[in-house]
Amino acid sequence: MKKILITGGAGFIGSHVVRRFVNTYPDYQIVNLDKLTYAGNLANLRDVENKPNYQFIKGDIVDAGFVDSLFDKEKFDAVIHLAAESHVDRSISSPIDFVMTNVVGTVNLLNAARKLWKEEYSSKRFYHVSTDEVYGTLGETGMFTEETAYDPHSPYSASKASSDHFVRAYFDTYGMDTVISNCSNNYGSHHFPEKLIPLAINNIKNNQPVPVYGKGENVRDWLWVEDHARAIDVIFHKAAPGTTFNIGGHNEWKNIDLIHLLCKIMDRKLGREQGTSAKLITYVTDRAGHDLRYAIDSGKLQKELGWVPSLQFEEGLEKTVDWYLNNEDWLNDVTSGNYQAYYEGQYANR
Ligand code: NAD
Ligand code: TYD
Repeated sequence: MKKILITGGAGFIGSHVVRRFVNTYPDYQIVNLDKLTYAGNLANLRDVENKPNYQFIKGDIVDAGFVDSLFDKEKFDAVIHLAAESHVDRSISSPIDFVMTNVVGTVNLLNAARKLWKEEYSSKRFYHVSTDEVYGTLGETGMFTEETAYDPHSPYSASKASSDHFVRAYFDTYGMDTVISNCSNNYGSHHFPEKLIPLAINNIKNNQPVPVYGKGENVRDWLWVEDHARAIDVIFHKAAPGTTFNIGGHNEWKNIDLIHLLCKIMDRKLGREQGTSAKLITYVTDRAGHDLRYAIDSGKLQKELGWVPSLQFEEGLEKTVDWYLNNEDWLNDVTSGNYQAYYEGQYANR
């Protein structure tokens, strides 16, 4: 039996990865390590929490002593590392949290794995989950490939770029079996409503303004979160040591077009007259250092490992809207308390 540590498993993407691994691989023991920050929510994993091959441990990857003793005790065979501070706007107001979790936390995990595995890496693997934002921004044309030079602009993307460099350094320096994937923007269920799509769904539902940064001209390349989890599964099992794969759905949308599409879907689902929700669109001050366009070339992953995205965007967005409308309790729980204070601070002066 293989024991796999998944970090950040209570978050958005992590919960989909945990669910997939627990259900698909009954022979793997899945240990989910998560600090349960505002973004971590064990309700995301209710359907797998009683499975015999699943275990949750609450802990902070920034605490090196804790991480070392956990590896010593649990003797993991592999790590899939997703724990991170993940929101660009929060990174602008508090960059140090991003340095601590995303950089120091990652290095703590690498060190603990190195000590445990004693540089005997056969059948061990350290998989680092990263973002396309490390590549910076594109103009009107072109796509990010695995060869694109790193050029991060936000404290979030700078911290993720730094962690990617450390992971590669552990392959180059110590021969650790590492793999990295850089994925475009994800959407789907269990997404914390500070990010564009769940925030817009929640605000439209509650007849609140839908804040669009700048002119809404920025372009993001959206991928269904379960397609990301499936790509992680394929890469974890098939990628050669030391390799990197881009993951994306060839699905670029200008923010304003995406919001209009969401408004149309929401009007239909909520029985509102078409055009009602679009009246909630409110242009607000642009994000500082706002990257114009992301677009991922996932040709290497498709050609070498045979992964292709499964869902068309419109279908995925419909499913996503349905999930949030059918899971009001989840939405209410995560939007109460702490999050309200953040939201007021974030948008008060826009
Ligand atoms: P998220 O913010 O929803 O979840 C992050 C999880 O990490 C939470 O459960 C949180 O409690 C946990 N965590 C944070 N700090 C921790 C710490 N110090 N110790 C232990 N656990 C901690 O993030 P997400 O959107 O699910 O992203 C997961 C990973 O995927 C991140 O590494 C992110 O950079 C990457 N990624 C995200 C996207 C996206 O569109 N969301 C796209 C590409 C890559
Ligand atoms: P976000 O979901 O925060 O993801 P990222 O910044 O990692 O791409 O934002 C997606 C896009 O939507 C980005 O261009 C910023 C924009 N945006 C808004 O226009 N309004 C909002 O309220 C938010 C949260 C984001």
